[in-house]
Formats: sequence, C-alpha cells, structure tokens
Amino acid sequence: MGYLKSVGTAVIYIGLFLAIITFIPGLPPDSEFREYSVVPLRDIDPKIGPKNRLTNAERLFEGKFTGPEAFAAYDGQLYTGVHGGYVLRIEEDDFVPIVKFGEKCDGMWQEHKCGRPLGMKFDKKGNLYVIDAYYGIFKVNVATGEYKNIVNVSKPIDGKIPLIPNSIDVAENGDLYWTTSSSDFALYDLVFAFLGNPSGRLIRYNAAKQKNEVLLQNLAFANGIILSDDESFALVSETIAGHIIKYHLKGPKAGQKEIFIDGLPGAPDNLQSDGQGGFIVTTIISANSEHPQLSFILAPHPYLRKMLVRLLLMMELPFKLLHDIYPNTFTEKVLHAIGSYHVLGDTFNTLKKSFVLRIDASGNIIEILFSEDNTINGISEAFIHNGFVWFGSPWRNYIARLPLKQVFPDLANNEKQSSRTRSENAAASNVKSERAKRDTISTSASTTTSKPTPTSTTTPKPIATPTTSKPTTTPKPSPTPKVDKRTTTDSSNEKPSTIKNPTSKSASDAKVKKNSAETVKVEQDASIREKVQKSSPKKVKPVEANRPRDDL
Ligand SMILES: *[C@@H]1O[C@H](CO)[C@@H](O)[C@H](O)[C@H]1NC(C)=O
Repeated sequence: MGYLKSVGTAVIYIGLFLAIITFIPGLPPDSEFREYSVVPLRDIDPKIGPKNRLTNAERLFEGKFTGPEAFAAYDGQLYTGVHGGYVLRIEEDDFVPIVKFGEKCDGMWQEHKCGRPLGMKFDKKGNLYVIDAYYGIFKVNVATGEYKNIVNVSKPIDGKIPLIPNSIDVAENGDLYWTTSSSDFALYDLVFAFLGNPSGRLIRYNAAKQKNEVLLQNLAFANGIILSDDESFALVSETIAGHIIKYHLKGPKAGQKEIFIDGLPGAPDNLQSDGQGGFIVTTIISANSEHPQLSFILAPHPYLRKMLVRLLLMMELPFKLLHDIYPNTFTEKVLHAIGSYHVLGDTFNTLKKSFVLRIDASGNIIEILFSEDNTINGISEAFIHNGFVWFGSPWRNYIARLPLKQVFPDLANNEKQSSRTRSENAAASNVKSERAKRDTISTSASTTTSKPTPTSTTTPKPIATPTTSKPTTTPKPSPTPKVDKRTTTDSSNEKPSTIKNPTSKSASDAKVKKNSAETVKVEQDASIREKVQKSSPKKVKPVEANRPRDDL
C-alpha cells in the first residue's frame, strides 16, 4: 500500500508540474497554440502502391558530405546543398563546392553559423536561386561562384522574421515564390517547429519592385513549393498537416487556396515536376495505420504540444545559462541536440520508410513507391535528371540514385516529350567544352580530399582505381553494383555518365565511420573546405573571397 501511495503522490506531483508549465504565463513560447486538423490517411488502391521500386539504389559520395537536401539542374549539370552550408555541383565522378553563404563553422552544432541551403532553383537564364535556412535568398552565378543576397531574412516581413526559409521556385518573370516554415523557431529547433503553432508562410518576392508579399500565413510547416507549368497555381507542402495546398495565381479563384491532396502517408517535403505536367513529392517522415506520424496525432491537442515544447525549452535552460557564463562546445552541442532534426528523424520516423508519390495536375495519386530494402529512406526530395532519379535526405551522408526507367517506367518512355529535358538537351552541347576543362580541375581536387583528416591516426591510402561505391555502414549493399549506362530512352546526348567515387574507400573513411556523428561532420566539412581551397581560384573561389556583387 505504501508503494501505491508513493506512486500516487508522484503522479499527482508530475501532473501538477506539467499543468503549471503548460498554463503558467510568461514561459516561452508564450503564444496561444491553435489546434489544426489532419485528415486520416487515405486508403490507397493497391494498384497505385506502395510499389517496391526503389531497391538497390546506388549511393554516391558516401561519407563525403551530409544532408543533400534539394536539387536543381541546368545545362545538364546537377547541384545540391549540404550540411556545412555548401552548394555543390555534382559532376560525373566528383563534386565541386560552388558557394557557401554562412561563416566558418566547426560542425553541425553550429549550423546557424555554417548556413544551410535547403532549396534551389534555376531561372531560365541559368542564375541559381538558393534559399538558405539561416541567411535568406541568394542569386548565384554558378560559373564564377559570385552571389548576391536577394532577401535578407534578418528583416521582418509583415512584422515577422521569416524563420526556416525552406523552398523556392522562380516564375517566368523572375518573381520568386518561397516558403518559410516557421515564424517562431529556427531550423536548429526543428522539433519545436514541428510541435509548435502553424506559423509557416508562402511569400512572393516581386522582382520588379524588389518587395516581398505574404500570400499565405499560419501554414503547418510550409515546405516544398512549385509553380504549375502555366503558372496558374502554386503548390505548397504543409509538412506537419500531411497535405499539399494549391494556391491559385490566375483565374477566378486567384488569391485563394484549397486542398490539393490530403491524407498523405506521411509528412510531405519538397515538390518537383515530373516533367509531364504532374508532380513528385516525398514523405520525409512516413506513416501507415500501424505507424502513425506523431505530429499528426498531436495536431488537435494544442495544450499537449505546448507542454512538450515548454518541457524541451526548460531542458535547454540550464545549458543556456551555463553557456552564457562559460561558452563552450559541450553546451553548444547539447543545446543543438535538444530539438534538432536528428531527434526528429529518430523519434518521429517510426515507420523508417520514405514514400515517393507521383501526383497528377488534378491532385490524384498516380503511383506511390518505396524501397523494401530501405536503401532509400528519409527522403527530402526526388529529382529527375539525366535519365536518373536522384534522392536527397537531411539524414544521409550520400546521394542515392536509381535509373528513371526503374522508378517511373512510363516517364522514361515519354521523357523525350518533356520540355524541361528538351532545354537541358539543347544546352548539353555547349557544356561539353567547359566540362573538358573542369575535368582536369576536379581530378586534382579529388586527390587532395584523401589527405589525413585531423582526427585520423592512420595514413589514408588514396585508391588509384575508382571503385564502385559499397556501403560500409549498412548491411545491405546492392548485390549487383550498377553499371551506370544511360538507358536508350535517355534523351541526353552526352556520354553515359559513370559516377565513380575515386576516394571513397580510403582508410580514413573507415575510421570516420567509427567516430561520433559530430566528428564525421567536422571531417566532412574540412574535406569540403580543403576542396574549396585546392581548386582553381577561377573555378571555385575560397568562400572568403566570394564577395557579394550587385551586378549579377
Ligand atoms: C542582412 O542585413 C543585416 C543587417 O543589415 C546584415 O548584417 C547582414 O549581413 C545581411 N545579411 C546578408 C546575408 O546579406
């Protein structure tokens, strides 16, 4: 009885404590939490999926960088953004750092300093617009590495600082449509943003007037954005509501929003075109009837969400105080870990699968795909380029890739009709000469990356002959290493691209795997930095030398 009594007392005290932290005014965040609704997962016709088509993916550049989040392509060249803040060009067998907007930083726990490019898009002239979660929107000349800040997110827009600038699309007239996922929390507090009040926004940057205009607010973690081919509407993923909204830009409903598709089997992330009028979206965190998505369950319970956010903020408090008195790396790492996206990946993603959905222009799901061998998981974006589908993930230290004809056979068959591919095709010929030059540069750059990293005790052996990437950390390497031949349906007229990873399996890599996640990050960042310095100054300038320019 004494035992029961003390348990009872404990329960009362804990309940009292939770009630106090939930309802006491003055504790951060002091805003009212609204409930919002998430419709139940829709029933999926087995004809639509999920189809197991994402198995045996190649892993490119494994261990060389972390978190390739989004892709963009121009002139047959692919670009992505990674942790540490760099935008990289992905070449046939190498990657080249192009630009970084943030400051020098020691590792992932300083991501607010490093910068984090989360979205990117080319305009028709080949200017790359990159949206960085900490530094705003930049226009980049990918040939010179020069850039210009277009939207400075330290200034409020309609009274609120845009936090977690996330995705971007460029209209024909140069206007930028972009999302900010939160108005309350920064990216390093992603869990808070997931539990918090829907405060995301869809914003249009009017290029002629150089002004931002808020089109939609109170969105549930506004994420991917894409304009329809005719620019009559924009689609926006509301990640924590499990749906995609449609915002009309033309016609009688202009300025109105409606649900494009809801009841998705998870939290939708970036949106891409399928090249044929439809769209491709991935679920970064997935759900099914046995594995519900936590943020969906919590959506209608504002007090519960507020309590959790306040609990986490209280956990941070002593470390914040300590850090104020005595700034040090340990408290910095703890503060970053609480609420960071790593926690999100592990605790929210119980299904541990990602779905790739192809949706037609009316919001009907055409197909849902997944990978049974789990080689593709936690995907933020699926991007069609050069006869392949490229997969990015904030949680993976590689880019995954599969032939388009395996993933979307009917798209591969029709690919020649794609207007996007046509323009790439036309551009491919003038890329060739440029590429010949660059090849020399990238070869020299890649030999330098296998230098001993700071914490490595063994001397890494640069491997002379390129090897096919073999996953070392996961037990399931693809049984048949892919020979990356272009398919005959490939519309590109370039040579087949064989992605080799010349330095991938050095001794230092094996060592890196055993170290903590933080160490890996430092080393990766160091290896990218080294690349930046070793590369030809014409090709890639050291970040410090990249001065913003106004005449881009
Ligand atoms: C944004 O503006 C602030 C204040 O004017 C400035 O310190 C900062 O460097 C600007 N950011 C960028 C990315 O240009």
